[in-house]
Amino acid sequence: MPVNHSNPLDDPSVNPFEIAATAAADIARLSGVDKHDIALTLGSGWGKAADIIGETVATIPATEVTGFSKPALEGHVGTLRSIRTPDGKNVLVIGARTHYYEDHGVRRVVHSVRTAAATGAKIMVLTNGAGGIRETWKPGQPVLISDHINLTADSPLEGATFVDLTDLYSKRLRDIARTIDPTLDEGVYTQFRGPHYETPAEVQMAKIIGGHIVGMSTALEAIAAREAGMEILGFSLITNLAAGIQQTPLSHAEVIEAGQHAEPVITKLLARVIEAL
Ligand code: HPA
Repeated sequence: MPVNHSNPLDDPSVNPFEIAATAAADIARLSGVDKHDIALTLGSGWGKAADIIGETVATIPATEVTGFSKPALEGHVGTLRSIRTPDGKNVLVIGARTHYYEDHGVRRVVHSVRTAAATGAKIMVLTNGAGGIRETWKPGQPVLISDHINLTADSPLEGATFVDLTDLYSKRLRDIARTIDPTLDEGVYTQFRGPHYETPAEVQMAKIIGGHIVGMSTALEAIAAREAGMEILGFSLITNLAAGIQQTPLSHAEVIEAGQHAEPVITKLLARVIEAL
């Protein structure tokens, strides 16, 4: 079991936006970059994108930034990177995602997004590795997220905070992504709690209610990003067809391997999209 390190976000009387503002100040101090324009969360398979987006100005261990969780696996420290693109945009690359299934609460799940907003980022790019429900999709294929279904029965919003989620995954940004790759398909992302994969029956349920992609992240982060006023672009790398759609059992090793195969293509795609934003 992971050790539950103390975190200021765990105190319910603490305002999570104040912690995010402190985290943003930590990033500014440690990177020397006062303001970021775009934030990018790297999910499985997308990890190398940071290397080709631009010049790395600073790499910060997440453990040095207020409110970030210690990694679920000891010895695997997540990082935040400040990258400058050739055309002068400052991109905050978040390689330290806290998943909902880690059981640290939603505040910690969305802290990176709130911190990104506090650094000034107006665009949040969320990427993940996920299962595909559409039979025409192939492992290794990136798809755009057009909308989501949040099956966690949870929300990052606290109190009676009513936030509109129409066009949550910006059509404008999806159109920009398609100027780079016109063949990009899109689908509705369905967030399950995990960490177990879905049963075939659950995948059929997701399909019947309008889902095309199944995964364990992103939806809660997108809601927090919208609350913070950011425009959102979502990408899923289809690492496997979802349980019961593919006829073989799912394995974490298969998911990692599909990500490694796809990496050169999807990282180039992502770098070109970031350049076009
Ligand atoms: N389901 C949920 N999450 C995933 C999957 C899946 O099939 N593949 C990669 N992440």
